[in-house]
Amino acid sequence: MTDEKKLPEKPEDGEAIHRREFFARLGLGSLGIAGLGTAAFAYQFLSPNVLYEPSPVVDMGKPESYSVGSVTLNADARVFVVHSEEGFFALNAVCTHLGCLTAWKEEQKQIACPCHGSKFTREGVKTDGPAPKPLAWLRMWLNEDGSLLVDRSTEIPPKQFVRV
Ligand code: FES
Repeated sequence: MTDEKKLPEKPEDGEAIHRREFFARLGLGSLGIAGLGTAAFAYQFLSPNVLYEPSPVVDMGKPESYSVGSVTLNADARVFVVHSEEGFFALNAVCTHLGCLTAWKEEQKQIACPCHGSKFTREGVKTDGPAPKPLAWLRMWLNEDGSLLVDRSTEIPPKQFVRV
């Protein structure tokens, strides 16, 4: 008695086409994924490598909203708007010691830093504490709509007032 192994039968035509189709689709899918990866990499490579930051110019509103003698902190902009007898000016509200946000103390008539106790006059001159420099005066001007604009990126020498 012979123990013949039965050889696998030749796959039917329908099954062979099915398998061929499967591998063709697999190959196309792989090519598609590789193509998408290449396109994403090329897009990233060709895009300008720019860091989009908010504009340094901020609108501080109408001069009428500041009474004479007022020192107003805009915490978002980190800027003081001072309306003195001589006119308007803007001070950087960031302490020159380690960068804390300072605050106007009406009862003491001074700008104070809550972190290490530096104190400044309303003109930004340091009077006490570890701050190494005065608060910077920032460029301020009136735009055509009559609003006060401040350029936080441009320091100016003190005593340059905006007269309205
Ligand atoms: S951060 Fe203002 S005194 Fe230190």
